[in-house]
Amino acid sequence: MIDEILINNAASLLEIEKLVTQCERCLLYRTKTKDVPGVGNEHAEVMFIGEAPGKDEDLQGEPFVGAAGKFLNEMIESLGWKRGDIYIANVLKHRPPDNRDPETSEADACWPFLKRQIEIISPKLIIFLGRHSMTRFFPNLKISKVHGQAFRKDFLGKSQVFLVLYHPAAALYNGGMRETLKNDFKKIPLILTKIDEVDFIKNPPKEKHIQSDTTKDLKIKQEKLF
Ligand code: URA
Repeated sequence: MIDEILINNAASLLEIEKLVTQCERCLLYRTKTKDVPGVGNEHAEVMFIGEAPGKDEDLQGEPFVGAAGKFLNEMIESLGWKRGDIYIANVLKHRPPDNRDPETSEADACWPFLKRQIEIISPKLIIFLGRHSMTRFFPNLKISKVHGQAFRKDFLGKSQVFLVLYHPAAALYNGGMRETLKNDFKKIPLILTKIDEVDFIKNPPKEKHIQSDTTKDLKIKQEKLF
């Protein structure tokens, strides 16, 4: 049994990947084809978190390689980035059969892997792709209300900023949502700049919403969840 202590002691993403291959913490290992621990840069400033591997991801062992992944790549490239500049992971590291929603027990079982990945990467910005990853961290938020908004909270010993985006698969064939996702995506560079403002991190303002000329629609709330 891969226990939490073992996962917490993993010193690198490679070690986590090895542990994922041996994982039987939930039953999804029985139906998986490949392990899908995550992909990208161990020193990424930006980490995307999706829901769970689908059929293509299960076959190839890499997150977001199907139709939703192509759409995600387009948006990443529109910022002048490559997949290798960022890190992409899912809440679940193994595919739920027939692409059903992750069960809470599965997400709980997989959580130590995601948590350790975040600790090792220590990204400046965590971006949720869809409500399943968002509710793992912010159970009370409604994605239709908060997509495109950034939140910060104390997480794993640091002041972490999170951005909520619609899931690319949900937006793919829905014209309105697709445009919304693309527009929300364009806010990423601005949010990164905002995080870079040292005073802002050291002395977070008391106001719930921070407004400036360029960040009228960027709301950063302080919320403590864990
Ligand atoms: N959807 C996800 O949430 N993750 C993937 O890796 C692919 C599709």
